Amino acid sequence: MAIERTFSIIKPDAVAKNHIGAIYNRFESAGLKIIASKMVHLSKEQAEGFYAEHSERPFFGALVEFMTSGPIMVQVLEGENAVLANREIMGATNPAEAARGTLRADYANSIDENAVHGSDALTSAEREIAYFFSAEELCPRTR
Ligand code: TYD
Ligand code: MG
Repeated sequence: MAIERTFSIIKPDAVAKNHIGAIYNRFESAGLKIIASKMVHLSKEQAEGFYAEHSERPFFGALVEFMTSGPIMVQVLEGENAVLANREIMGATNPAEAARGTLRADYANSIDENAVHGSDALTSAEREIAYFFSAEELCPRTR
């Protein structure tokens, strides 16, 4: 088993509904360690840059508007197979298709406002972590 790092966002809908603590509890209960964390309110440019891979999709404008609609929590999670582990904790993009007990099944109302983001691969995790955090901001555990 490989120790990996992945990037996670608690999106504006879940922050607005006071679910930060409940979601952090899911990460920690699953054995993922939060090694960096902060609250930010994205600018339009920051949101467009973060989701650049989706810039040609029909939902892009609405996605950027949603992601800038309120503060978000951004965090780096570390643990065994963290990328896939976090995607499993999150559940499917569309909460209607998300497995029971996943974050999106429990906290998301719709595919466009779906509570959490998680990197989909190690390469995107590295890029997304660097988009929000400097190396000095990462605090891996020594105990
Ligand atoms: P995507 O990367 O496909 O999903 P995931 O977040 O599970 O990796 O899409 C990024 C975000 O774009 C998704 O979380 C919500 C939004 N989105 C929509 O609003 N409508 C859609 O039809 C899709 C596919 C995504
Ligand atoms: Mg994605």
